[in-house]
Amino acid sequence: MAACSTSIVNMPPVNVGTLKGGSKNYAILKPNSFPTRPCWYKQQHSMLVVKASEGPIKKLGLSDAECEAAVVAGNVPEAPPVPPVPASPPGTPLISSFDISRRPRRNRRSPVLRSAFQETSLSPANFVYPLFIHEGEEDVPIGAMPGCYRLGWRHGLLEEVAKARDVGVNSIVLFPKVPDALKTPTGDEAYNDAGLVPRTIRLLKDKYPDLIIYTDVALDPYSSDGHDGIVREDGVIMNDETVHQLCKQAVSQARAGADVVSPSDMMDGRVGAIRSALDAEGFQHVSIMSYTAKYASSFYGPFREALDSNPRFGDKKTYQMNPANYREALIELRADESEGADILLVKPGLPYLDVIRLLRDNSPLPIAAYQVSGEYSMIKAGGVLKMIDEQKVMLESLMCLRRAGADIILTYFALQAARCLCGEN
Ligand code: PBG
Repeated sequence: MAACSTSIVNMPPVNVGTLKGGSKNYAILKPNSFPTRPCWYKQQHSMLVVKASEGPIKKLGLSDAECEAAVVAGNVPEAPPVPPVPASPPGTPLISSFDISRRPRRNRRSPVLRSAFQETSLSPANFVYPLFIHEGEEDVPIGAMPGCYRLGWRHGLLEEVAKARDVGVNSIVLFPKVPDALKTPTGDEAYNDAGLVPRTIRLLKDKYPDLIIYTDVALDPYSSDGHDGIVREDGVIMNDETVHQLCKQAVSQARAGADVVSPSDMMDGRVGAIRSALDAEGFQHVSIMSYTAKYASSFYGPFREALDSNPRFGDKKTYQMNPANYREALIELRADESEGADILLVKPGLPYLDVIRLLRDNSPLPIAAYQVSGEYSMIKAGGVLKMIDEQKVMLESLMCLRRAGADIILTYFALQAARCLCGEN
């Protein structure tokens, strides 16, 4: 819908190359027409050639001199009168105007002014599209996430990627639904080079070599316990042993062709360990997007349904951050920066705008925001129930994540929003 695109998208710069004209439309400026000759004139004997407007100057009757003379003589030509002051409705109180010099509404009074002064832009280039994949041939709708599917890795996925690329979304992140029979306590399927994710990456890269593929690095889709790490007998999530597995997982993804590996597990020290593991295998060019501030959030509910990855017991509070904490994000930020992260991610998105701003103001690295499943589903549900305008709320939420400081946004709305920004619906 064009209406939403005009208010949200920043138009691309006008192509300067559209100026017309063959050689006859060039105006020749003699350098001596400069009031003072520029210093380079001495070396430059040729004339300056500047492209000017097309064709000869149109003659409409009086010459410039005659027009000026007429005005000087008091014969001012007619132009439309100043329009009358618009009437106020009857009953409007008669008051004297405030004596204020600041009236911020002046810069908001027309669409042209508003778009001229818009501080933040939103473009399909900012989106990373999370896609759920499975071994099946069919695309299975995800009940808790209307409009999202577990896509067949061989068919549905390729079609969805093609649709996204058509509207400028050329970055995706893959989330696999792994068969239960392949899940183990140590999640070893995570680094099977023939597993669902590496296989899918190879297929995608073969078809779309310039597609940027992000991967998720964590054990939960592969863990029979549904946790992001290895669970000890007493329920403790083992940190360093888990990181050992994550390094193998990241290397396997890189080997398949992943561009950006994204540890979402929240183990300590994993960014540095993954960096070393990638480098040792010759994957210096593969980036790490670290889930720097990932909170133990109830907004992940629909995602866990999508992947059937709910923890079998307990919660993720011993590794994901406490939603009440702000300063702690700085500790994670410093660790990730020093360990070599290329992109820092905050998750969830909208309820954590302050944390996005905190990272933005404390690091020069690119910041990513993850608009998670619960945020997506709430907007969808509100739209279906006609409580909110789904499309407008979608675009506003994405713009707000950008305004808070996110460079890129992982969002299930990527395709829908990009279509809207491109003027499609
Ligand atoms: C797991 C992972 C989760 C999400 C992304 N990676 C869920 C979790 O931590 O339990 C959530 C994404 C979403 O809710 O959209 N490593």
